Amino acid sequence: FQVGYRFNISIFILHQYAGILAGGKGKRMGYTEMPKQFLELAGKPIIIHTLEKFLLNPQIDKIYIGCIADWTGHTADLVDKYIGWTDKIEVCEGGKDRNGTIMNIITAVREQFGINDDDILITHDAVRPFVTHRMIDENIAAAKKYGICDTVIPATDTICVSNDGQFLKEIPWRNNMYQGQTPQSFNINLLLKHFETLTEEEKATLTDACKICVLRGAKVKMVDGELFNIKITTPYDLSVANAIVKGEVK
Ligand code: CTP
Repeated sequence: FQVGYRFNISIFILHQYAGILAGGKGKRMGYTEMPKQFLELAGKPIIIHTLEKFLLNPQIDKIYIGCIADWTGHTADLVDKYIGWTDKIEVCEGGKDRNGTIMNIITAVREQFGINDDDILITHDAVRPFVTHRMIDENIAAAKKYGICDTVIPATDTICVSNDGQFLKEIPWRNNMYQGQTPQSFNINLLLKHFETLTEEEKATLTDACKICVLRGAKVKMVDGELFNIKITTPYDLSVANAIVKGEVK
């Protein structure tokens, strides 16, 4: 029964994948004994908080973690320890940049299941543990309907542009400004189509997958993020994350 069940799922049903981006070194976190995605937040590693959100969402068929090389074994051990046996999670190696990690995840999906035209990948930073089901569900719906979507919040600070780091060039209207978060979600074949057009130079400089799609003229739907959906980048962010978990930030 188990074999038949898995066979059916891979051919006919499995088409909403989560890609947890955990291939970074976390340099802006300063010196830590392990990359920031493995640091503890309220009793468990940050990446486990993030994984739990996707594991509990019934719309996600399989979760791929694109993990920093040398830490794949550690990641698999954490999954065993905090989640237990599951065939819903796969660990693969991350890439040399964020998009490289997304591409490695897509390769892992292709090797395991192949890629169908309506397959969707919901990519999410391992270090954004406060993603909600509402955001995940709205990402899935928007990616199905529009092909590509990005999670954003309206900018609260005025954004200033400078080309030389000395003088202001421009202060755009804040009403048009948003801050990008994740998830970012894609029809996989559509994302691949845009990636394939990149030059080596573009690959080195365009680190945001949605930015690539926008530059290639794609329509990228916006999904509402949340102020609390922070990315843990610096030690300050980790303090804020601890306060959020304890309910100290309202
Ligand atoms: N990421 C990734 N693969 C990479 C680089 C980054 O999957 N080659 C992931 C990170 O693990 C993180 C997310 O992208 O979950 C957001 O990136 P960022 O906060 O910039 O992470 P780091 O690259 O780890 O941080 P830093 O720039 O401070 O080194």
